Amino acid sequence: MRKQIAAANWKMNLTLEQGMALTADILKATLTTDITHQVILGVPFPYLIAIKAQIGNQENVFAAAQNCYSKASGAYTGEVSVEMLKSIGITHVIVGHSERREYFNESNAMLADKINICFEYGMTPIFCCGEPLAIREAETQNGFVATQLEESLFHLSPEQLTGFIIAYEPIWAIGTGKTATNEQAQEIQAYIRKVIAAKYGSTVADSISILYGGSVKAANAKEIFAQQDVDGGLVGGASLVATDFVTIINSLK
Ligand code: PGA
Repeated sequence: MRKQIAAANWKMNLTLEQGMALTADILKATLTTDITHQVILGVPFPYLIAIKAQIGNQENVFAAAQNCYSKASGAYTGEVSVEMLKSIGITHVIVGHSERREYFNESNAMLADKINICFEYGMTPIFCCGEPLAIREAETQNGFVATQLEESLFHLSPEQLTGFIIAYEPIWAIGTGKTATNEQAQEIQAYIRKVIAAKYGSTVADSISILYGGSVKAANAKEIFAQQDVDGGLVGGASLVATDFVTIINSLK
């Protein structure tokens, strides 16, 4: 059965002290969390070592990087490689968040390279996809998202995609307070699974955790996560408040 996941994306927020206080509250609350659920904390690079140490051996909680570079090593000032992340014990990385795509011009092809280097080093990527408002208004979101998947993931083997994590995040719902309706989330996430099943078969498609992201809050998490093809969430704003994020974790199926 595929994993149900509550993933936090702190983005460029919080000081180390604030981040550690938040993590302490989350760890306390997740000690009793069902072990089949996973909690992934996407924290800024400078905090990864500290947060990872704080998590210790709490099995169901992971620290994740919010980005990585597509090259193994070399003269790329300011970038962080997957090997570096592995060397400090990090196991997960968010790849292709819409803010990276928009502000840092990350293309589908570039993200395919990032996914490849993740697999080369045994890192688990959380691959983000999702359409901007104009595409949603033109009702062409399915084709748009299918192209993102095809161009960044569909060169992978069935083994690599088995148990993979995708976050569907409609850009018009990120940080806007405007959540996709339960029906909109279910419809496109079922479509994502269908596109994967058409290429890789239903066993692979059914093993993939597809998270929803975009203004997930304590008040709406339960109903969104209850949708059949929604396997949890990638949460920005509401992941910065311990009580809200703990409610979101407890809303997983
Ligand atoms: P939000 O962000 O929950 O603040 O909308 C989600 C995300 O960008 O991952």
